[in-house]
Amino acid sequence: MAKQNKLWAGRFSEPTDKLVEEFNASIGIDQRMALYDIEGSLVHAEMLGRQKIITVEEASTIQRGLQQVATEIKSGVFTFNIEDEDVHMAVERRLTAIVGPIGGKLHTARSRNDQVALDFRLYMRAGLRDVRIAITQLQSVILKLAEEHQGQLMPGYTHLQSAQPVSYAHYIMAYFHMLRRDYERMGDAAERMNYCPLGACALAGTTFPIDREFIASHLGFKAPTENSIDSVADRDFALEFLAAASICMSHLSRLSEELIIHSSAEFAFIELSDGFCTGSSIMPQKKNPDIPELIRGKSGRVYGDLLALLTTMKGLPLAYNKDMQEDKEGVFDALDTLLKSLRIFTAMLERMKINGAKMLESAMRGYSTATDLADYLVRKGLAFREAHHAVGKAVAYAIEQQKMLQELLLSELQTFSALIDEDVYGYITVEASAANRNSYGGTGVDALAVQLKNARSYLKTVTK
Ligand code: ARG
Repeated sequence: MAKQNKLWAGRFSEPTDKLVEEFNASIGIDQRMALYDIEGSLVHAEMLGRQKIITVEEASTIQRGLQQVATEIKSGVFTFNIEDEDVHMAVERRLTAIVGPIGGKLHTARSRNDQVALDFRLYMRAGLRDVRIAITQLQSVILKLAEEHQGQLMPGYTHLQSAQPVSYAHYIMAYFHMLRRDYERMGDAAERMNYCPLGACALAGTTFPIDREFIASHLGFKAPTENSIDSVADRDFALEFLAAASICMSHLSRLSEELIIHSSAEFAFIELSDGFCTGSSIMPQKKNPDIPELIRGKSGRVYGDLLALLTTMKGLPLAYNKDMQEDKEGVFDALDTLLKSLRIFTAMLERMKINGAKMLESAMRGYSTATDLADYLVRKGLAFREAHHAVGKAVAYAIEQQKMLQELLLSELQTFSALIDEDVYGYITVEASAANRNSYGGTGVDALAVQLKNARSYLKTVTK
């Protein structure tokens, strides 16, 4: 009978079925956590030595061996084999090959269940840091765009119908604020996951006198987790990241959609640089906004990753179940997708051209100052509902005459309300309409200046 040589094979007499070997292995996915696995093991070995669970010499032999494994991984000479099943066993096997049977002492007072929970958290903690940096880089490009285009007017929309004129800066800053919440969500997730599960062992803790405080603090965690069963059964941190990533992708997707619309010949508000577009193999005139389209598409992929893990976790009995090995692929996929999307977005916005004349012309065409005419009448004493009605009639008349509101003669305007005077023209241009909306958070010149100033100092605090 063929012998088993798996690290756990003591009670087995038959080898793993070949089909099972491949199906059961996670090494193709989890090998990217290898350096975090070693980071955790280095501290675990140190703790075992300090607590005299193994000798100090054994601990340092193990640590030296682990350092060598890390060097081999970084230089690319380390080979990951499917027979090792996962990254934890691959590292341990190589360690034992280097230092001999002492390597086998590393797994004292530890299980792969708490080990994988630790590695995954360490990996995601770094991933969340990268995401937050990428978010702030995108925010700073958005803020720069805004600062450069404060006086640029465009139609603001509801229902994709021209509603009221707004500053382009104000419009694009809406995304800055969405990203700020994304940043905070990622930060919240990072805070909540910052407790160390190592020492939970298989699920019940251990009879060895381990020092979980030592491990937690040396790995930069706030504290050890409080319940060993929850420690190995919990994947909330992965779900929280996926939820935050999904929301962030939804923001990128909405902006993508707008870039696609705004770059169409019909709008022509913006032009994406050639480096972010592709042509058509049949229609020579085409310049397709593939990158925003792809990002819009990839949001679906990240939502899928979230749904997959929610579904995997649902109904799992405590504590660890092998189902949970399915957790990493989607999380890594979401992390890669989100990071790439954020970075490519940053570069794309940096090189995008704004067609100011087209935006302004559009804002002037859509009767977007009708509310200002109504507000004008309200200031002259009319109830808003009546003003709304009178202006509605004026707009219908202007459409019929194929004129903009401000092109109507005073005598024409006065047929809709006797309250209208010559001074009305100071209110119903798009410039006046946008410039005067100075309620806090509004698009008006002064309110916008406050918003941009606050955003600038916010960015300074998060990027320092
Ligand atoms: N590869 C496993 C995973 O990713 C590691 C934990 C295995 N634990 C076990 N009891 N089989 O979930």
